[in-house]
Amino acid sequence: MDGGKTMAKKIAVFVGSLRKESFNRKMANLLMSIAPESLKLEIVEIGGLPLYNQEYDEGKPPSAYTEFRQRVKSFDGFLFITPEYNRSIPAALKNALDVGSRPYGESVWGGKPGAVMSVSPGAIGGFGANHHLRQSLVFLDVPTMQQPEAYIGGAAQLFDANGNITNEGTREFLKKFMVAFAAWVEKNAV
Ligand SMILES: Cc1cc2nc3c(=O)[nH]c(=O)nc-3n(C[C@H](O)[C@H](O)[C@H](O)COP(=O)(O)O)c2cc1C
Repeated sequence: MDGGKTMAKKIAVFVGSLRKESFNRKMANLLMSIAPESLKLEIVEIGGLPLYNQEYDEGKPPSAYTEFRQRVKSFDGFLFITPEYNRSIPAALKNALDVGSRPYGESVWGGKPGAVMSVSPGAIGGFGANHHLRQSLVFLDVPTMQQPEAYIGGAAQLFDANGNITNEGTREFLKKFMVAFAAWVEKNAV
């Protein structure tokens, strides 16, 4: 036997920030390190996707689109970790959602379970981005975990130099979030 590893669900992690020192990327790395064994998480990069243009759907799409779509299709669920830009989600993340949603009728998102976490240095933890993202996920038919909600504020004080979180309360919450997500993925598995 393999200790249940073949049963592990593959989860694509999308980080809404492209910067190297991103708090959201640090959070994604930390969540991957504390996830229950029933989840196998991998970051899928979105920074190399050209801006979506509907004309691509009629001709030959950029190879980055084809690779992205095929890769996303191979996952069992999605975890979105995003900052808030001007009370919404960053363009890079919206672009990735749009690229994956087309050509019409060939969306790679539909039916697979997801979860959202927003991370910001601000006090309200990217609430606006979190809920704008949820609006698109409703349309894209991604059943998205509702509880616990995760609006992580004060991100500039959260991580030490190694990307660890020392605040015990936050660590406990993040573990609870991942355990709940694992149960959500199990319940909504396609
Ligand atoms: C264009 C832009 C718009 C921003 N708008 C918001 C905002 O609406 N709400 C917020 O909490 N932070 C806002 N910020 C600050 C980001 O939360 C901050 O830059 C954060 O570190 C970005 O996430 P990252 O560390 O993962 O890159 C904005 C930053 C930029 C660059």
